[in-house]
Formats: sequence, structure tokens, C-alpha cells
Amino acid sequence: MKAIDIIHAEHRALGAVVQALRFVLDSIRAGSAKPDFVLLDAMIEYITEVPDRLHHPKEDEVLFVAMLRAIPECADLIQQLQHDHVHGAQSTLHLRAALAQYQAHVTSGLDVFDAIATRYIDATLAHIGLEERALLPLARRQLTPAEWAGIDAAFEANKDPWSGPTGEFRTLFTRIVSMVPAPYGLGAALD
Ligand SMILES: [Fe+2]
Ligand SMILES: [Fe+2]
Repeated sequence: MKAIDIIHAEHRALGAVVQALRFVLDSIRAGSAKPDFVLLDAMIEYITEVPDRLHHPKEDEVLFVAMLRAIPECADLIQQLQHDHVHGAQSTLHLRAALAQYQAHVTSGLDVFDAIATRYIDATLAHIGLEERALLPLARRQLTPAEWAGIDAAFEANKDPWSGPTGEFRTLFTRIVSMVPAPYGLGAALD
């Protein structure tokens, strides 16, 4: 079940990025950090490139299709998760627009960006939690080895390009992690 390992790893990485975004926003609000727009832009780029363009499509086009075929009673759960994917991609566009507004109006723009980012972070963590708690255990229990062989092959063929040593998103991910101050990232701790 390589596909499940890949999904777990992508959930962990996305969870780390959104938790880091929360930490950065908390630090700006508390006055212990100034807004770093290079960092915020890299985080939103990651969210656009990895969950929206890479992770969710693999779930939608491969795992969900196989589960709906083999486990019809999971239809409501899958519908909820598909809705989250669509809504997540729309939220990314709002986040991007709100970040541009924030950058243009640094003193007054924080509240709106913070509110939109907080909704995105909460929704993302809830979505990951639902897949980890409800979807993946069901898939692990009910799909047959033959079904897994097909899913694993599809996931292997569309492997996430940031986990490999030369992947383009690995550079982006490393950039985010090294820009985020400790304890969430590898950057210098805040005073
Ligand atoms: Fe998902
Ligand atoms: Fe997922």
C-alpha cells in the first residue's frame, strides 16, 4: 500500500506548512515578527502547487474512484471530501488575493488576511483529520490486494516531486521550512 504511505507523507508535510503559517500569523499579531512577504508567498505557492495540483487530484481521480466502486457505502464521505477539495482550491485563490491586499496595505490588511488564512488552516487540518480517521482506515480494511496494486501503480507514476532529492517542490518546501522561525521551522528563533 504505497499509496497510503504517500498520502500520509503528503498530509504530514501540508500539516506542517499550515501550522507554520498559523505560527507566523500569531507572531505578526503578537508583534514579535514583521510580515515576511517572501515567506508568506512561498507558503501560498506551496499550497497551490502541492495540495491543489498534486495531492487532491490523485485522491479524486484514483483512490476515490476505486473506493466508490468497491465500497458504495462510503459515498457520503467521499462526497464531503470532494467538496472540500473544490472549496480548498477556491480558498487558495482568496488567500492569494488577500495576501496581495495585505502587502499593499500592511497596517490595515492583516485582519482580513489573517481571517481568511485561519479559515483555510482550520479547514485543511479538519480535512486531513477526516481522511486519516475515516477514509484511510476504511480503504486499508476493504480494498483488495488487486485493487491496491492498481492504486499504488497510479500513485507511483504521479509521485510527489518534492520528496525526491531533485524535485522542484522539494526546493520550495525546504525554502519554507528554513524561512520559518523555530520551533516550527529551521530559521532563527524569534526574540
Ligand atoms: Fe483530500
Ligand atoms: Fe488528502
